[in-house]
Amino acid sequence: MYSTGKIAYEPLPLPPRDEIGDAQMLEAARAFHALMKTRHTIRDFSDRPVDAQVIRDCVAAAGLAPSGANHQPWHFTAIAAPALKAQVRAAAEAEEEKFYAGAAGDEWLQALEPIGTGVDKPHLEQAPWLIVVFAQRYGMTRDGTRYKNYYVPESVGIATGFLITALHNAGLSCLTHTPNPMRFLNDLCDRPEHEKPVMILAVGHPSPEATVPAAAKIKKPLDEILTLLT
Ligand SMILES: Cc1cc2nc3c(=O)[nH]c(=O)nc-3n(C[C@H](O)[C@H](O)[C@H](O)COP(=O)(O)O)c2cc1C
Repeated sequence: MYSTGKIAYEPLPLPPRDEIGDAQMLEAARAFHALMKTRHTIRDFSDRPVDAQVIRDCVAAAGLAPSGANHQPWHFTAIAAPALKAQVRAAAEAEEEKFYAGAAGDEWLQALEPIGTGVDKPHLEQAPWLIVVFAQRYGMTRDGTRYKNYYVPESVGIATGFLITALHNAGLSCLTHTPNPMRFLNDLCDRPEHEKPVMILAVGHPSPEATVPAAAKIKKPLDEILTLLT
């Protein structure tokens, strides 16, 4: 249980939502699809700052994601301090050097070729914010009692999806960056050992030179990702 006190089952009414007609529903689904079609990972950020409150609100939205037994096994550390971003970049590039020198293996490196990624990560300093996502392998109450978490990767993945979507909805762009390995983030962010860093989201506005690799525009067609059994 994530709470120190025992919580009894108690059914509550749903939060109020406006009733939506079928036509409106289709419109809403299409409008959201159109919005999401404009999302792309960027690797060149402008120096336009982003207010901390926007980051707070987007992370608050991520925190509303569903999770196994509602244990919410995540923590987000948002870094704006230039010196700390420089340390993250230096440590990430040190890992990336080994990765691109062969640790990744040929197949992985070939898969990355059309994306155009490499060792140099200036965006980790250019982006006004780096949000480090941690997955809590087990939980810890404030009084230090350990408890089990369930479906941790699934829950953290969903919350991160909420976060990326919230950032995009707020007009921001991001880069999902996964240096491999990334344990150095525990030290830099001062997070406990039982929290596993899973990714860094570099967040901000695109620079005028920002581009999208053509390969990233190729998405699987709907009939390949969806089976309707009616
Ligand atoms: C789990 C995960 C890890 C990723 N790691 C990196 C990374 O380390 N560096 C990078 O430049 N992009 C990374 N990406 C971004 C992908 O390359 C990108 O999402 C993909 O090419 C599709 O492009 P799009 O996001 O513009 O649709 C990662 C994405 C995900 C979901």
